[in-house]
Amino acid sequence: MSETRNFDPFPPMPDFPAGEVWLAGAGPGDPRLLTLLALHAVRRADEIVHDALIDARVLALKREDARLVSAGKRGGQPSARQQEINSLLIERAGAGRRVLRLKGGDPFVFGRGWDEVVALAEAGIRYRIIPGVTSGLAATALAGIPATTRETNHAVVLAAGHRADDDHSSTDWEALARLGQPIILYMPMTQLAGTTAALMKGGLAADTPAALLQSATTEDERVVESTLGRLVDEAHANAIGSPAIVVIGSVVGLRRRVLAGLVGWR
Ligand SMILES: C[S@@+](CC[C@H](N)C(=O)[O-])C[C@H]1O[C@@H](n2cnc3c(N)ncnc32)[C@H](O)[C@@H]1O
Repeated sequence: MSETRNFDPFPPMPDFPAGEVWLAGAGPGDPRLLTLLALHAVRRADEIVHDALIDARVLALKREDARLVSAGKRGGQPSARQQEINSLLIERAGAGRRVLRLKGGDPFVFGRGWDEVVALAEAGIRYRIIPGVTSGLAATALAGIPATTRETNHAVVLAAGHRADDDHSSTDWEALARLGQPIILYMPMTQLAGTTAALMKGGLAADTPAALLQSATTEDERVVESTLGRLVDEAHANAIGSPAIVVIGSVVGLRRRVLAGLVGWR
C-alpha cells in the first residue's frame, strides 16, 4: 500500500522585507495574467515604481496607502532616464521601503531589467526577480498562433524592432531571415518598413504569413493577419498603433485551423 502524506500543496509566499526591491513582470495587461508572486508583491509593496505600459487594472490591486511612481518614458536620453530610475530604486529601498519595480511582460525581455538589477547589486541592495508572461508570447498564443509546433519549427526569434537612441548594437535582419524561423518583433511599429524590407532582402518571401497584434488582453486588442510584403500597408490601413507585436512565419497561417473554437481573452 502506498503511503499518503498530508502536505500543503501550495508553497508559502515569501515575506517582502523593508529595504528590498522586487523586480516583477506584470504580463501583457490583463491582471489575470499576473503570476501569483507578482500579485503578492503588488499587494504588499509600500511603493510601486511602474512603467508607462502597466495596466490600470493591475495598479488598482495595490494597497490603498501604497505610493505609485510612474517611471514611464519622458523626454531626454533614455540612458539618463535609466540612471534616474536606478537611483530612485536605491534611494527608496535605502529609506526602508518595500519597493516593487513593476515592468510590462517579463522584466528581462527588452525591459532594461538587467540594468536595474546590476545597479541594485552594485549598491548592495537586496532584490528579488519575479518573471512575467512576456507580451510577445502571450499576444501570439491569445491570437491562436503557436510560437512552436513539432511540424513547423524548433526555434523562435524574439527581436526588438526599434532601437533606442542610446543602443548602438544593430540587428542583422538578413541573417535572422536566413534562419527560417518565426520572428516575434517587439516595438515593431516605428521602423516596420525598414525591418520588413531587410527581412525580404535576406530571403523571406513577401507572401510569408505575418500578423499585427495590438494591445493584447486590453479593450483595444486587435489582430490583423497579413503577409510580410503587405504588413506596412495593412498597419496603416487598420491604424495599428503601439503597443503591438508583429509575428512573421508559417506559424501565423496555422491559426485558421483553430479559429472556429477559439474563445477570446475576456
Ligand atoms: C519596452 S518593450 C517591453 C517588453 C516587455 N518586457 C515584455 O516582456 O513583454 C514594450 C513592447 O512590448 C510589447 N507589448 C507590451 N504589451 C503589449 C500588449 N499588451 N500587446 C502587444 N504588445 C505589447 C510592444 O511591442 C511594446 O512596444
